[in-house]
Amino acid sequence: MARRALVAGATGALGSKVAQQLEARGWQVRRLTRSRAKAGASGEVHQGDALDPASLEGAAEGCELVFSALGASVAMDLSGWSGFTSLDVRANSNLIAEAQAAKVKRFVYVSVAHDEAVGKTAYVRAHEQVVERLKVSGLDWVVVRPTGFFSALGALFDLAKKGPLPSLGDGQAKSNPIDDDELALVCAAACEGTEREVACGGPEVLTRDQMAQAAFEALGQPVKLRKAPLVMARVAAVLMRPFHPRMAQMVQFIASLSEHDVVAPVRGSKRLVDYFRERAAAAKR
Ligand SMILES: NC(=O)c1ccc[n+]([C@@H]2O[C@H](COP(=O)([O-])OP(=O)(O)OC[C@H]3O[C@@H](n4cnc5c(N)ncnc54)[C@H](OP(=O)(O)O)[C@@H]3O)[C@@H](O)[C@H]2O)c1
Repeated sequence: MARRALVAGATGALGSKVAQQLEARGWQVRRLTRSRAKAGASGEVHQGDALDPASLEGAAEGCELVFSALGASVAMDLSGWSGFTSLDVRANSNLIAEAQAAKVKRFVYVSVAHDEAVGKTAYVRAHEQVVERLKVSGLDWVVVRPTGFFSALGALFDLAKKGPLPSLGDGQAKSNPIDDDELALVCAAACEGTEREVACGGPEVLTRDQMAQAAFEALGQPVKLRKAPLVMARVAAVLMRPFHPRMAQMVQFIASLSEHDVVAPVRGSKRLVDYFRERAAAAKR
């Protein structure tokens, strides 16, 4: 009989690809979502809101694995008001409790690559609070800590089509973003492997300005950057806090990434500029 896995965040950028990877490896996947329509037609679905423990009941029954890429959106838009602390920590704690009740063997959680300074932001702290809960849960745990996904940096490409891109601070802080498909492979391997903590990034270490330049290069346009002082982002994050906690926490995280390098061990081979080029080619078709 096929091994069964519950994938939380299965309609998201990463979770949807991990669900497919697990299926390709012979797992029977149950997808958790608040909206059945978003989960697609095929496969088993558990409809539930992870903030509501009652609606999670039975979600992990019969599963030996829970994979969670469940969290508030990282999109720079006004969707989803709840911040990472209130959503990610509560929802994933409820999921851990459901996994314990269902006697699941292994729980794999996606946190965020960070250094000490970036680790002080509310966004990373929320993820690491989940990690702390997981470590004392009695479950066999695995934590994956990726750098930025190419799909999230796709926002740069969309903005570059419209005009100059903001360059916060000196634009020289570095990271090595990772392709979503390659990250999904890393995650699926982590579900079956022996590593407990898997930090991962792509092959190229780029400054924040170079990431923006890659978007213009793929579009065949001259590079247009608009310098903005870091203090502006920090003030914006504080002002936004009462009105939109999620965006406030995202802006605080981005400001921190703009002054600190976050480079993780290389687990991918695809380059950001090629991802942007694929986006440019797709837009022309
Ligand atoms: N994107 C990046 O660059 C990046 C980098 C490092 C780490 N991460 C972290 O990796 C994780 C996955 O990121 P992603 O970009 O794939 O996220 P995403 O596309 O925004 O997907 C989020 C998922 O969480 C689910 N979800 C949210 N609230 C829920 C709730 N109350 N109950 C049940 N499900 C809920 C959503 O499902 P429904 O809407 O269908 O219910 C969706 O499938 C996140 O924790 C993120 O912070 C992201």
